[in-house]
Amino acid sequence: MKTLLIVIAILALIYAGAIVWFHDPETGLRFDLEGLRADSLRFGREFLWGSSTSAYQVEGGCTNNNWYLFESEKDNEGQPRIRAGQRSGQAADHWNRYKEDIQLMKALHLNTYRFSVEWSKIEPAEGVFSDSALDHYGLVVDELLANGIEPFVTLHHFTDPIWFQQRGGFEREDAPELLSRFANRVVRRLGPKVRFWSTINEPSVYAVNGYYLTEFPPATRDAAKAITVFRNLLRGHTSCYREIKRLRADAQVGLLMNIFPFDPPSFWNLLDVVLAHYLNRGFSLAILDYLNTGVFEFSLPGVGSTRFDSGVREGFDYVGLNYYTRLRYRFSPFDGGKFAEVQTLPPSELTDMGWEIYPEGLYRALAMVSSRTTKPIYITENGIADDRDLRRAAFIEDHIRVANRAIANGMNVRGYFYWSLLDNFEWAKGFDVRFGLYAVDYATQKRTLREGSKKYGEMIMRASTR
Ligand code: FCB
Repeated sequence: MKTLLIVIAILALIYAGAIVWFHDPETGLRFDLEGLRADSLRFGREFLWGSSTSAYQVEGGCTNNNWYLFESEKDNEGQPRIRAGQRSGQAADHWNRYKEDIQLMKALHLNTYRFSVEWSKIEPAEGVFSDSALDHYGLVVDELLANGIEPFVTLHHFTDPIWFQQRGGFEREDAPELLSRFANRVVRRLGPKVRFWSTINEPSVYAVNGYYLTEFPPATRDAAKAITVFRNLLRGHTSCYREIKRLRADAQVGLLMNIFPFDPPSFWNLLDVVLAHYLNRGFSLAILDYLNTGVFEFSLPGVGSTRFDSGVREGFDYVGLNYYTRLRYRFSPFDGGKFAEVQTLPPSELTDMGWEIYPEGLYRALAMVSSRTTKPIYITENGIADDRDLRRAAFIEDHIRVANRAIANGMNVRGYFYWSLLDNFEWAKGFDVRFGLYAVDYATQKRTLREGSKKYGEMIMRASTR
């Protein structure tokens, strides 16, 4: 009996020790958000205040990329890939209305604009480049500069030309060279006027959604392919980084990564704690380590692993951080080893994306980046899908206040971009979710400033007139 008790006690100690070992001490971090509002604002004069968009989501007329094909595909159950079979069509017609949209930015005192160039418009067929598409983006850049707005350009934001997808996309080892050849054309055309470049938006989301969760094209479920694609996207970042720096040495070039801090649904479930640990490592820290050391080491037990050394250390000038929420995953060993997302809050408290509003997660994400680098961090996306506009103002204020606290605590945060300037085509969710500072009436293309968005303009004014 005594021996049994000792064995049980030892096992309990090992169990508790393992939890402490794998547990992220920042889990559940909370601030007194009201209290944060009393902090004085520490954003310097050089701080970039912007909004973000991506080409496919706002431009319209994207008929030559993998998402265009996806719009008419159905899943295994015969359901359309995009909610209710919606199509991006003219989207927010930003291609034609960019001048008007730049005035909308000015009205909110924004001093930068993050947008992406659409690869399928610039390189409609392999090796064939469109001068008129490049000229279009040249005009956008000129218009921004004429209005005192710094262009912040993303080369790859989820969409690929059809020809690229058909030859195997990022599954192929030569994909990075094709991406950097495209980068070369864009930077030769826009480089003299554009200092800020982002290579790739959210490589982990592209790889996981496209090759595991089947939310994005090519909607494959193949963990090995997902890992290959993840690795090749990071290789693509490095080849673009080198190419851009070769063409313009003083360019600021970064990768855009999202950090969803992963938390265990329950602190006492060791499997969940270990899973959260591996997810944070594999999807966040592994990218930061790759940027620093050139070595990408990914491993998710039961799913797969890879190791790759690019030989390029510190191949980045800044980190672009996209932050929206935290996620909780449960590991179910008796359910085929599945990972299931768990939401502990009632739907009434979630955003229209079904996401928890958790401003402290931004602090944790910034701390994660800062644990690996002291280079500048730009918060390149943060925003809320809130059709009724009930929570946008508080969301904006709280997240900016949290960024302010991170600066006060020594983190090198240099910019904040709200996602998104306009309502837009939210990938597989179509037009239903509305992130815009400006609401878009898609029947008339009329833009209307949301009440809650005024808070953003006010915060910028307060931060700049101290
Ligand atoms: C990010 C994407 C962006 C947008 C927001 C809501 O993952 O980069 O295009 O869809 O989420």
